[in-house]
Amino acid sequence: MTTTPSDHSAPDRAPRHTRFARGLALSGALLAGSAFAQTAPKANWNLSDMPSQEGRVFVVTGGTSGMGYEDAKALAGAGAQVVIAARNPRRGEETIARIREEHPGAQVRFEAVDLSDLASVRALGERLNATLPRIDGLINNAAIMAPPERSVSADGYEMQLATNYIGHFALTAHVLPLLQASDAPRVVTLSSIAAQRGAINFDDLQFEQSYDPMVVYGQSKVACLMFARELQRRSDAGGWGITSLAAHPGVAVTELVERGPGLDSEQGRQWSANREHFHTAAEGALPTLYAATAPEAQGGVYYGPSGEQELRGPVGLANVPAAARDEAAAARLWAVTETLAGVRYP
Ligand SMILES: NC(=O)c1ccc[n+]([C@@H]2O[C@H](COP(=O)([O-])OP(=O)(O)OC[C@H]3O[C@@H](n4cnc5c(N)ncnc54)[C@H](OP(=O)(O)O)[C@@H]3O)[C@@H](O)[C@H]2O)c1
Repeated sequence: MTTTPSDHSAPDRAPRHTRFARGLALSGALLAGSAFAQTAPKANWNLSDMPSQEGRVFVVTGGTSGMGYEDAKALAGAGAQVVIAARNPRRGEETIARIREEHPGAQVRFEAVDLSDLASVRALGERLNATLPRIDGLINNAAIMAPPERSVSADGYEMQLATNYIGHFALTAHVLPLLQASDAPRVVTLSSIAAQRGAINFDDLQFEQSYDPMVVYGQSKVACLMFARELQRRSDAGGWGITSLAAHPGVAVTELVERGPGLDSEQGRQWSANREHFHTAAEGALPTLYAATAPEAQGGVYYGPSGEQELRGPVGLANVPAAARDEAAAARLWAVTETLAGVRYP
């Protein structure tokens, strides 16, 4: 009998929270490797290591909650001008008020966008191009995870793929001129340990034939990671001048589970029982903030927690799953997504 990495016959004696998180990541599937030069971050990098962001302009999608909120707060606190882009203007206003409580002079504003709706993403791109001088950092962070039932976006695409991946692919294309107006533009795209079980289902990208919520989430997150790396390759080849990086938070306590599978689902119950073992949102934001601001962070590199199975711990180099190292698949996905998103990169 052949044995696969996920084929365990011995009882799993790992702590319950580790077993829960493995459900997201498929134990044993982590594979190191990257064609990009990579140097490990300074030990225990944290907000006190973040250089001043005075004069820099950031756009953070999904900045009204969880890691996106922590990204926006930290960047604004370091002096950056920050645009938070998410769906709900009321939450946007509350978020700005919360940030200003801590940082009274914070330069932060809200822009409404539904990333699952390409017309809304295009409209956001037009507003940003009309109002910003440039973008120094775009943080592609917003996401939904594993809604129990399949649904489709305004454009007819599976909702997780549309929100997490296609919307960010389109937004990045729309703001490319603003990124190129910066002297050192960065694009940071959020992936997940769930990408370890992700593969691109080219035969049924929209999961019309079967719908497993976490498999579909995994596809969307491996697509985000492939996008981040392919963007760096295309920027290098075409001289676009963009540094594209990827990050993941490990597992962090945010609204993602509550708004996805729900707290009364099996996954939600396990989640609630283990919350104290996971990162806070502020800890989970550190790999993204490192990628967005550390002078030594490198294009094409994937940052995440350096602890066991990357579930938590100080910022380190994350393992890139095999599916995300397949450059032919990344190029194919890019071409397919240009058609789906109705955008053309240079
Ligand atoms: N939490 C974790 O353990 C974990 C693990 C691995 C990876 N991640 C990744 O980390 C990132 C942040 O997740 P989180 O845990 O902080 O999630 P969260 O607390 O649920 O926040 C998600 C944010 O995305 C926004 N959003 C959702 N759908 C949107 C849409 N259609 N258009 C625009 N904005 C939308 C939400 O705002 P509105 O609803 O107001 O629009 C909210 O601000 C995601 O990319 C996620 O995949 C999280």
